[in-house]
Amino acid sequence: MRIGILGNGGVAVGLGAAWVAAGHEVVIAGRSSSRAAAAASKIGAASAPLAEAVRDRDAVLLAVPWSGVEPMLRAAGDLAGVVVIDPTNAVTHAVGDHLVPGGVSAAEEIARLAPGSLVVKAFHLVPAVAWPADLTVPLAGNDPAAMETVSTLVRDAGGVPHVFGSLTRARQLEEAAGFFIALAFAGVDPRATFPSLQG
Ligand SMILES: NC(=O)c1ccc[n+]([C@@H]2O[C@H](COP(=O)([O-])OP(=O)(O)OC[C@H]3O[C@@H](n4cnc5c(N)ncnc54)[C@H](OP(=O)(O)O)[C@@H]3O)[C@@H](O)[C@H]2O)c1
Repeated sequence: MRIGILGNGGVAVGLGAAWVAAGHEVVIAGRSSSRAAAAASKIGAASAPLAEAVRDRDAVLLAVPWSGVEPMLRAAGDLAGVVVIDPTNAVTHAVGDHLVPGGVSAAEEIARLAPGSLVVKAFHLVPAVAWPADLTVPLAGNDPAAMETVSTLVRDAGGVPHVFGSLTRARQLEEAAGFFIALAFAGVDPRATFPSLQG
């Protein structure tokens, strides 16, 4: 696939490296062309201006903090028809309170800010350094073909995709991240709070 990544931080490098290793063509773009080029060179990807990184792509990963989402989408331009993967955790640092008011998910807000884009919530529960990771990755989105594309990218990052539901379910996935983050910062392993349901 031809993948564009907006942002050049930990998630861009972690997932980008996994996708490069799986044979995909990855382009990284950021608000600083030199930082995007440096990130790309670490993982054997290319770098490009923002508009180019979203043109003719099978998927675009929006790898910026919540505060950077709106400016990044504005700078990237028209995303109508583009599969936009949302890994953002729009939660307060260490506390996990959701930052988007009114019960709306970050993913739905991204869909509103990028009209016509095909948003899929995915990858937000996994630390960037963990990729490739043999983990189940829940997905929320409305477009079946976009969900199929992102499912393939989950598998190519070592994971197992699980279709959780439509984009209206994304808030629940995001609140789960807030819960995990709050526990982790309190020194509790989130996995220790669930009984094993195997067998
Ligand atoms: N790190 C993780 O383990 C992890 C795991 C799951 C999900 N996430 C989520 O994934 C997203 C990316 O996380 P990350 O760890 O990759 O972040 P990061 O390492 O801090 O990198 C953030 C990237 O966003 C860019 N950025 C920041 N503010 C911006 C703005 N106003 N306009 C345009 N670009 C802006 C930065 O650009 P500059 O280099 O120019 O500053 C940088 O490229 C976040 O929403 C985070 O919550 C992170």
